Amino acid sequence: MKKKTIGILSCSREIEKEGKLFFEIAKKKGVKVILINLSDKFDIKSFKRKVKQCDIIYCSVWDDFSVELTKTIEEWGIKIIESSKSYYCTEDKWMFYVKCKKHNVPTPETILLSENINNAKSELKQFGRWPVILKRINGTMGEYVEKARGMAEAEQIIKKFWKKGSEKLPIIAQEFIESPSYRVTVIGNKIVQTALKKNNAGWKATGVYAKRFEPFDIDKKLERIIKKTVKFLDIKICGIDVLKKGGKWLLLEVNGQPSLDFFEEEHERIIEEVLNLLIKAAEEK
Ligand SMILES: Nc1ncnc2c1ncn2[C@@H]1O[C@H](COP(=O)(O)OP(=O)(O)O)[C@@H](O)[C@H]1O
Ligand SMILES: [Mg+2]
Repeated sequence: MKKKTIGILSCSREIEKEGKLFFEIAKKKGVKVILINLSDKFDIKSFKRKVKQCDIIYCSVWDDFSVELTKTIEEWGIKIIESSKSYYCTEDKWMFYVKCKKHNVPTPETILLSENINNAKSELKQFGRWPVILKRINGTMGEYVEKARGMAEAEQIIKKFWKKGSEKLPIIAQEFIESPSYRVTVIGNKIVQTALKKNNAGWKATGVYAKRFEPFDIDKKLERIIKKTVKFLDIKICGIDVLKKGGKWLLLEVNGQPSLDFFEEEHERIIEEVLNLLIKAAEEK
């Protein structure tokens, strides 16, 4: 079989952090890796030339620009992980909730708020869960996630969210779950890592806010929920945030392009898992 070529769309920071590891491990596996740096000036011709050499592409960053590139690459008929379709739910917290409900996957109770502040307030009153978590339907690293103890605070937060960005994005309200944040990294249909994200400073435990990580044991129940979820989302490489309410697991969100380095000593093993999946997907064509 001809040596497979894997393209990795990345940014300078990621390339510095992981590029070398990708190269070294790919070499051992007898595949070629082409790193495509999205931080460079964008030239469609050279981009297309590089992409066309690849059997498969992995986009390791997520932003609006890389979504456009993903769609472009799909149009050119080259396989890319993740598919643009998977963003429909993973990058939209409301749609994620709707999907979970549809597939009977436990998730915190959530409502979509009207864009009229008076309606939103009356919806919150009816929801009646205080404190309440308010989030923009998209966002990352906890930037647009806040907790309101009461109506006045909720109103302040909503107004701030609508003012902060130039766009008035929809906001969801969600029951507050008192829980550490559990992260499960999934590659293909395989759970490759677990990390308990403890944050001593407060309730928000995202990658950047969390102070310490430690692995945790996954039980059959959570394993089943996770495998079902990655299947209906059709996502291949992801980090799933989970909370626990009275002994019951609740899925909070599924992140594409997850950090692969929660534990430095496992970084290589996780990158190898990513490459194994990409090679397998490239051969399936
Ligand atoms: N409903 C909730 N109850 C308790 N904590 C929450 C809730 N929603 C979010 N959090 C905390 O805030 C963090 C960020 O929220 P998340 O929905 O994952 O947004 P982001 O996409 O910005 O990471 C979570 O990892 C968790 O620690
Ligand atoms: Mg998160």
